[in-house]
Amino acid sequence: MRDIAANGLQTARARTLTLTEFDDHELTTQHSPLMSPLVWDLAHIGQQEDLWLLRGGESAAQGLLSCQVERLYDAFENPRATRATLPLLSPAEARTYLADVRNRILDGLDRLPDPSGEDLFPYVMVEQHEQMHNETMLATHQLRDGTPILGAGAPLPTGRTVPDGSVLVPAGEFVLGVDGTEEPWSLDNERPAHVVDLAAFRIARVPVTNAEYQRFVDAGGYDEPRWWSARGWAHRQEAGLTAPQFWLGDGSRRRFGSVEALVPDEPVQHVCFFEAEAYAAWAGARLPSEQEWEKACVWDPELGRRRRWPWGAADPTPALANLGGGSLRPAPVGAYPDGASAYGVEQLIGDVWEWTSSGFEAWPGFTPMLYRQYSAPFFGGDFRVLRGGSWAVGGNTIRPSFRNWDLPIRRQIFTGFRLAWDA
Ligand SMILES: [Fe+2]
Repeated sequence: MRDIAANGLQTARARTLTLTEFDDHELTTQHSPLMSPLVWDLAHIGQQEDLWLLRGGESAAQGLLSCQVERLYDAFENPRATRATLPLLSPAEARTYLADVRNRILDGLDRLPDPSGEDLFPYVMVEQHEQMHNETMLATHQLRDGTPILGAGAPLPTGRTVPDGSVLVPAGEFVLGVDGTEEPWSLDNERPAHVVDLAAFRIARVPVTNAEYQRFVDAGGYDEPRWWSARGWAHRQEAGLTAPQFWLGDGSRRRFGSVEALVPDEPVQHVCFFEAEAYAAWAGARLPSEQEWEKACVWDPELGRRRRWPWGAADPTPALANLGGGSLRPAPVGAYPDGASAYGVEQLIGDVWEWTSSGFEAWPGFTPMLYRQYSAPFFGGDFRVLRGGSWAVGGNTIRPSFRNWDLPIRRQIFTGFRLAWDA
């Protein structure tokens, strides 16, 4: 267990350093008003580790930074668009600070006598925070102008033609969410496990692809208010949406500084909730609720219990799911037949975050974790839940129960969707 925590922290750090191994100008530039300059993420990663692991979350206690400097890294106090104007630590100062905090943490971890999952939770929570910022930094890299600096990305398995577009999930109860006993690294909003009864539904085996989405664009889907919700249409008009973000309108797209042909059988990325909703209406379908998504992902109807992963108990491998950020893109649909759930649904974990129709709410019996402001301030807000993680998710940050949330207009994140239908 101690090794899981220590290795998780070190894996996240290696990734952080790879994503920030560029000159100071790259790190201090605000590449988009939607994102922080990379140097802010860098020092904020250390500041959160300092707060949760050196001070047990006591923000009034003195950390390694002065309190004036520490305040610059408070995500609630400083909106992203303002962060480049703050007197931030330089890249070199940020790297030194990160290493200093980490050395103290690893020493402390070594000295913990026989730690339990509960003792180690704060360490893995901090690892998950760093991995989430790594994904955020990849979104910043995608928004940045200029020549490519991230390389070509690791190769992925080839796709295949997937039989039958959708599967039936019969009506009935299942267990939604998890408890700390079975999933010690689950965050507060994933808990507790509880029984939910769902009507029968159908769900697509794989996410919607670029080729399928192109047909919606070609059919004039962006000019037909009838496919859009009232709010969605208003946003489409105001933001001038005509296609997914980074599509160039001639069958090509921009990805990490390169212009390349759209890959037809790759899941569509960089669509907002309103676009996903409109596509689904055009296709005679709807988005799944997050409860439906989770049932299709983990419920084993024969055994009447959850699986740990869609495919079973084994941890993810490159043969089962596209995770970890190294590929720099989603895998084509059909690439992971062995990753199918009990119902035969594929690519639920990795590739693209999947928009669901659900708002972000607490499960009954919700109790906030050590980082009390992680979930609670966002319940009931104007968010939609995203499930399954993207190719950019790493380490111990994804589980079938993991819940991400964002505003319905957001699309700089690695988002796609799959369809569902009433049965
Ligand atoms: Fe953060």
